[in-house]
Amino acid sequence: MSEDMNFVTVQEMAQQAEYTKKVRDMIKDKQLKAFVYTLGCQQNEADSERIRGIFLSMGYTVTDDEEIADLIMVNTCAIREHAEKRALSVIGRYKHNKARNPDTVIGVCGCMPAQGHRSEQLKHSYHYVDFVFGTGSLHKIPEYVYNALNKGKRIFVAESDKPKIAEGVPVVRESSFKAWVSIMYGCNNFCTYCIVPYVRGRERSRKMQDVINEVRTLVNEGYKDITLLGQNVNSYGKDLDGSPTIADLLNEISKIEGDFWIHLMTSHPKDASSALIDAISKSDKIANHFHLPLQSGSDTVLKRMNRHYDKEKYLSIVKELKEKNEGIVFTTDIIVGFPGESERDFEDTLDIVKRVEYDSIYTFQFSPRKGTAAYSMDDQIPEDVKKERFERLNEVQNEISKAKNEAMIGKTVKVLVEGKSKNNDKIYSSRTEGNKIVHFSSDKDLTGQFINIKIIRADTFALYGEI
Ligand code: 5AD
Ligand code: SF4
Repeated sequence: MSEDMNFVTVQEMAQQAEYTKKVRDMIKDKQLKAFVYTLGCQQNEADSERIRGIFLSMGYTVTDDEEIADLIMVNTCAIREHAEKRALSVIGRYKHNKARNPDTVIGVCGCMPAQGHRSEQLKHSYHYVDFVFGTGSLHKIPEYVYNALNKGKRIFVAESDKPKIAEGVPVVRESSFKAWVSIMYGCNNFCTYCIVPYVRGRERSRKMQDVINEVRTLVNEGYKDITLLGQNVNSYGKDLDGSPTIADLLNEISKIEGDFWIHLMTSHPKDASSALIDAISKSDKIANHFHLPLQSGSDTVLKRMNRHYDKEKYLSIVKELKEKNEGIVFTTDIIVGFPGESERDFEDTLDIVKRVEYDSIYTFQFSPRKGTAAYSMDDQIPEDVKKERFERLNEVQNEISKAKNEAMIGKTVKVLVEGKSKNNDKIYSSRTEGNKIVHFSSDKDLTGQFINIKIIRADTFALYGEI
C-alpha cells in the first residue's frame, strides 16, 4: 500500500478551499466571531489550534468570549467518564446562545462524538447542535459551516477507523514560544482500558519532510519548546515509504540550527528502542526528559491491560535511559483500580514508583469506557478502593517529588520563561527542560526567553530561584 493512501487528496483540500471562500463571501462585513472550547489532551489542543486557523481563513475573528460568539466549536475528550460529562455540560450551556441568536452555528468534534452512541445522543438530545464529527474530518469544517449558514440539514459524520491526514490546514498557535507538532495520529495498541484506538483510528504518520519543515519554520519564528505529539511516537514511520523511525526523525531535527528544546509526547515502553535512547543522548536539542507511561507495576495487570511489557522490561529501559543521559527526568501515567487489581498488584506499582524515582506522575482512577475490553471485565474495583489507592500513590510520589526538588537547591538550571504569575506582577513562572515549574522575581518581562536560574528553595510541586 502506498503511503499516499493515508492523506487527504489535493482535490479534497481544494474543494474545502472553495467552501472557505464561499463562507468568507457570505459573512463579509458582518464581523462575525468564533470560539472554540477545548477539553482533553495536547492532541486536542493542537487540533484546536488548527480549528482556529480554519476559522480565521473563513473570515471570522477568534474570540475568548463564548457569549458573543457567532460560531462555537466544542472539541471534546472521551478518555474518562468525567471528561465526557464535562463535554456534555459545556455543550448544554450553548443551548442559550442559540435561543438568544438562532443564527449561531454550533459544532461538536473530537473523541466523544467519534463514538456512535454519543453521536446519536447529540443528534437526538441536542437539537441546537448543527454539525458533529470525530477527529478525522477537521479539514471539512468550511463545508460544515457553509451548510449551517445556509440552514442545511444537520450533519453527523460517521468516522472510519482509517481517517486521513490533512496537510496544509492553517494553524493559529496559542503561544509564541511553545508549539505542538503532531507527527502521527491514531493508535494501534488497543490497551484494554483505552478508548483512543476506537475514536482516533489506526496509526498514520506524517511524512518526515513535512514534520522537519514545520519544526524548522517554528525555530526560525523563535519557538523555543516544541513538543512532537502522537499517541505512541515510538512507532512513528512504520506506515511510511522506507519506514523511517522516530530515531531517524530526531536525528534530522537535531541538525536544525538554533536554541530550542524538543519534547516527545507520548512514548510506549514496548517500542522504546536503543536507537531512540541514543538519539536523545546524542542531541543537546532533545530535552533530557522522558515521559514513559507505566500504567501499572504488576505483571498480571500489565498483561490484562495488553501492554506487551513487564516490570523487568520497563525497568531495563529506565536503566538504559539513566545510564546514557545523566540527570534525565522521568514522568509517567499510572492507572489505579484496573479490574482485578489486588493489593499485591498495587504494591508492585508503588515499588516501581519508588525505584524509578519519577519527578512527577499523572495518576488516574480506572474509568470503564464502553466498547473497550476492560469495560466488561470481572472484578471491577469499588470506587472507594480506587480512591484510597489513588491517595496512597500520590502520597508516596509527593515525598519523592519533594526530595528530588530539594536536591536541586544550589544548582543553576536553564529555564524557559512562561509568563507572569497570576497573583503577583513581579513573580514569573518558568519551566526546566524536565518540565519542572520554577518561580522567580524579575523587574523585566523575560517571557519566551531562555535564562539561567539559581534554585534557592523547593517544595513538592515547584522550585524557587533567582536570576
Ligand atoms: N481510565 C483511567 N485512565 C485512563 N487512561 C486512559 N484510559 C483510561 C481509563 N479508561 C490514562 C492512561 C493514559 C492517560 C492519557 O490516560 O494512563 O496514559
Ligand atoms: Fe491508549 Fe494504549 Fe494507544 Fe496509549 S498506547 S493511546 S493508552 S491504546
